[in-house]
Amino acid sequence: MKTSVISTFDTNQAAAAGAKIIRAGGLVAFPTETVYGLGADGLNGEAVNRIFEAKGRPNDNPLILHVAQKADAFRLWDGEPPFARALMDTFWPGPLTLIYHRSPLVPDEVTAGLSTVAVRMPNNEAARALIAASGVPIAAPSANLSGKPSPTRAEHVLQDMDGRIPLILDGGPCRYGVESTVLSLTGTPTILRPGAVTKEMLAAVLGEVALAPSILAPLGAGEKAASPGMKYKHYAPNAQVLVVVGEPKAAAARISALYDQFAGAGKRVRIAATAEAAPFYGSRSIALLGTRQDPTTLCSRLFGLLRELDREADVILCEGVGTQGTGLAFMNRLLRSAGFHVEYLP
Ligand code: TXA
Ligand code: MG
Repeated sequence: MKTSVISTFDTNQAAAAGAKIIRAGGLVAFPTETVYGLGADGLNGEAVNRIFEAKGRPNDNPLILHVAQKADAFRLWDGEPPFARALMDTFWPGPLTLIYHRSPLVPDEVTAGLSTVAVRMPNNEAARALIAASGVPIAAPSANLSGKPSPTRAEHVLQDMDGRIPLILDGGPCRYGVESTVLSLTGTPTILRPGAVTKEMLAAVLGEVALAPSILAPLGAGEKAASPGMKYKHYAPNAQVLVVVGEPKAAAARISALYDQFAGAGKRVRIAATAEAAPFYGSRSIALLGTRQDPTTLCSRLFGLLRELDREADVILCEGVGTQGTGLAFMNRLLRSAGFHVEYLP
C-alpha cells in the first residue's frame, strides 16, 4: 500500500480526503495537540480492527473515541458521568480523556470488551475537521508501532506506518508531545495516565483526584492494570534507556560515570540532559532536553529526542525530574521508555 502525506494547511481539503477513507472503513493518521493519532470509524468494529493490525497492538488494549463537539460525547456514554460537564467546560477541547460506562452504540472492538469507554475532544482544528467531515466518532490510538515512542511529527508516523496505511495528514509538530491525561469517572475520579491536564488542575475542579498506583512504578506480579495500556512495554526506542533522578550536579556526576563505563565497554552512548545539569558533563557531548523549570517543554521534546538518539546510540542516559505539574507526565513516559531502569540519588 502506498502511503500519501498531505498537509493540513488547507484544513477542509485535508479533512475531505481523510473522511473519504474513514467512511470507507480505512485508516488515516492525523495530528492532535498531544500526539499523532491513527484513526478509524469508531462505530465500525471491522475498521477498528485494522488499527490493531497496522500497529501490531495487543487487542485487549482499548482505544479512545475522539469527538468534534461536546454533545457527541454523551451519545457514547451510558448516562452522564459525574463531574463531566464541569470538566468538559474547563478542559475541552483539550488533552483530557474521560472514561465512563459505555452506551450500546460503542462496538466491543473499541473497548476491548470492557464495560467502559474513553472519550476526548482534541484541541486541534484539523483533527476536529476530520471528525466532523467523517460524521462519526474516530477511534484512535497514537500512530506509532506498538511499543515505540509516540509520534509527535508526521515524519515519525511515516517512519512507523509507511506502507501500512493510505494517508497521513501532516499538521506539523504536536503542541504537547505527550498523550492526553486519562481520567476514570466510574468511581472516585482517578488519573490512569498523567498528561498536560495535571493532577493539580483537575483537583481545582474536582476537589479530590486519585492517582493509579502504576503511574510511576511497574505493575506488581498478578496486579490488575486499571488501564490495560499500562501493562505493556511502552514508548521504548531500540536503545536501552537508563534514568537518573537527582539534583543537577549529582545527576550529571552519576550519568558521567555511567557514560564512561559504557563507552569504555565499546557501547555508543548518548546523554539527554537538562539545562541545569549541562555545565557538569565536562567534555561529554549531550543532547539538551530543556530546563527543569518547564517540564511541559521537556514533555514536548521527549519522544522526538528518543527517536533521534535511538539512531546513534546503544544506551541513552537521561536525567529524571520532579513530579509536580507536568513533571508527572514526563516521568511516567520516561520511566516506561526505560522499562523502569531508574536510580534515585539521595
Ligand atoms: O492524546 C491521546 O490520548 C492520543 C491522541 C491520538 O488522542 N491517543 C492515545 O491513545 O494516546 P492510546 O491508545 O495510545 O492510549 C489510550 C490509553 C491506553 O493506555 C488505554 O489502555 C487507555 O487509554 N484506555 C482506553 N480506554 C480505556 C478504558 N475503557 N478503560 C481504561 N483505560 C482505557
Ligand atoms: Mg499509545
